[in-house]
Amino acid sequence: MYQRPRRNRRSEAIRSAVRETRLHPSNLVVPIFLVDGEGKKEQIKSLPVAYRMSRDIVLSEMESCMALGLDKFIIFPAVEERHKDTTATYSYMIDNFYLESCRLFKEKLPEACLISDVAMDPYSSDGHDGYVDQGRIVNDVTLPILAKMAVAQAQAGFDILGPSDMMDGRVAAIREALDDAGYYETGIMSYTAKYASAYYGPFRDALDSAPKSGDKKTYQMDPANRFEALIEGELDTQEGADFLMVKPALNYLDVIALMKENFSLPVAAYHVSGECAMLIAAAERGWIDREKGIHETLTSIKRAGADVIITYFAREWASIKV
Ligand code: PBG
Repeated sequence: MYQRPRRNRRSEAIRSAVRETRLHPSNLVVPIFLVDGEGKKEQIKSLPVAYRMSRDIVLSEMESCMALGLDKFIIFPAVEERHKDTTATYSYMIDNFYLESCRLFKEKLPEACLISDVAMDPYSSDGHDGYVDQGRIVNDVTLPILAKMAVAQAQAGFDILGPSDMMDGRVAAIREALDDAGYYETGIMSYTAKYASAYYGPFRDALDSAPKSGDKKTYQMDPANRFEALIEGELDTQEGADFLMVKPALNYLDVIALMKENFSLPVAAYHVSGECAMLIAAAERGWIDREKGIHETLTSIKRAGADVIITYFAREWASIKV
């Protein structure tokens, strides 16, 4: 027996020398659920690691994250029902609480990287990511709405915009509108391969954004498909995306690897709410060690090829030593 792989596993000193994948806080993005008001920090029942927070609380949360080396935040608005309509007009009202808060965050923490959410669902009375006409999601009516939302977000100071809607042609529509308005430095992290997944439940609870009728299968991808992700990746690359995202992460590690092998753009992976909730629930029952589970999960997402990982565990991971 000349080859004994166990020799390189003998001690932590050796193991750490041959370790292929290392997570760093700079790989992680912290998701934030923002509500209007002051002094609000509300628990999300199905995701007991995240909160709906008002801007003042978010600001101190961001400060403590920055101290841990976490400097990227993806922000989602929880919009009151009375502001919702069929065309998501609230999304591009320049003084809405989401955009106003972004201005505040940029002013107080200029080094933080702020990532937005571009989609109609948080603002839509139908709860869909696109414009709904007689039960159908109409792609090309949605595009100019997304473009307006995007320009308003760039104007508010977001560094990177995150179209999560899966309409065809939206990256081009957003890129063009941004460039026309002079925001050529604002980046786009496109949700390139976003699947119609069962694992978004806690997120929809957090934002109260579940579709009022139907499902999202006519725009989000079929979980059975891998090569279709390459079509999406080619389009997003051509249309001017700066990051290609795969979402969810864990059930789609093969898709993350496929994207990394086939494209030169950085790959982001969204470790979604339901994936985090599963681990929390199992750990609560004592069935899985929470800290080790978090570390292994995030490491596996990076090992698959993700450069950037959006995860509700970012802060917890950064504060634990495994
Ligand atoms: C919708 C959006 C969703 C998530 C991010 N943006 C949910 C959906 O498509 O219904 C899910 C994220 C998560 O579950 O953590 N634009």
